[in-house]
Amino acid sequence: MVKRIQFARTGGPEVLELVDVATTDPAPGEVRVRNRAVGLNFIDIYFRTGLYPAPGLPSGLGTEGAGVVEALGEGVSHLAVGDRVAYAQGPLGAYAECHVLPADKVVRLPEAIDTETAAAAMLKGLTVQYLLRQTYPLQGGEIILWHAAAGGVGSIACQWARALGVRVIGTVSSPEKAARAERNGAWATIDYTREDVVERVRELTGGAMCDVVYDSVGKDTWETSLDCLKKRGLMVSFGNASGPVEGVNLGILNQKGSLFVTRPSLNGYADTRERLEAMAADLFAVLERGDVSVDIAQRYPLAEADEAQEALAGRRTTGSTILIP
Ligand SMILES: NC(=O)c1ccc[n+]([C@@H]2O[C@H](COP(=O)([O-])OP(=O)(O)OC[C@H]3O[C@@H](n4cnc5c(N)ncnc54)[C@H](OP(=O)(O)O)[C@@H]3O)[C@@H](O)[C@H]2O)c1
Repeated sequence: MVKRIQFARTGGPEVLELVDVATTDPAPGEVRVRNRAVGLNFIDIYFRTGLYPAPGLPSGLGTEGAGVVEALGEGVSHLAVGDRVAYAQGPLGAYAECHVLPADKVVRLPEAIDTETAAAAMLKGLTVQYLLRQTYPLQGGEIILWHAAAGGVGSIACQWARALGVRVIGTVSSPEKAARAERNGAWATIDYTREDVVERVRELTGGAMCDVVYDSVGKDTWETSLDCLKKRGLMVSFGNASGPVEGVNLGILNQKGSLFVTRPSLNGYADTRERLEAMAADLFAVLERGDVSVDIAQRYPLAEADEAQEALAGRRTTGSTILIP
């Protein structure tokens, strides 16, 4: 038997329960990983609340973890029992002592990267990889706006963008978060709960505005984000921390300067083993060079996943959060 967090109905953190389930053997093409650390991500909250539907209930939760390969299904040749590995993509069920998942979603860790760092960096770091290097291949010299710059994804993004020679204007909700984002390499910060974001971006850029806006806050920031772009700039809407963006009139993109908009996801980029491995190699390289260091600002026992999620949803976390089985 192994312990896992599951939910039988959608709702608040109280629907999460710690249960004992039978250990399952991996089917052909699958692998069983003994988790050493599990990543906490905002997407876990979307599944718990039902914003994103789980394939069935009761359901496990979580898609990110790192640990050691314990068993291999038939036909898996790129991994071996005992390998230290990490993963960031479904199926749901990473909040557990063990997780069985398709081997194609699992990558081997280099010596230099420990399992806690991997669990804290895999989903968020692969996301930053595709956002900065693929969705808009930044060359250096651009100015970008990044909302929630002191959060998990934001903390990695500030550091990686700085290493690419990109100036990041980061939005945050407190002076402490501003200081943290600036330590991580943000060129400037704006408190979007108090300041006029568009005016501040205009001042900071001398009127030029931003090449790209990365917006994971969603509903509350959508229109402000569009106003922070230069003509023909790119709006990357990649999350819904304040609720999803709905009812968009495409004409607004014309009115605000022939803007581009995309709504990407990690699964749309790391969609084959080859692409996942190339993206992970890029992430591991910035970690090994020290361009990016992962700030594990919160650690919770697996059994306290509900409290961890409350803290994340309540804007009380910074950097990455991991659960320890
Ligand atoms: N599309 C993808 O591929 C992909 C992949 C990974 C993550 N994401 C998205 O990226 C975002 C960041 O994920 P994360 O796990 O690293 O979380 P996080 O940034 O550590 O936490 C979310 C942050 O959003 C800000 N926020 C603004 N309005 C909020 C509200 N109404 N409720 C809660 N938070 C609010 C808060 O920062 P302030 O207090 O500074 O405002 C909060 O700390 C999430 O929206 C997530 O869904 C998308």
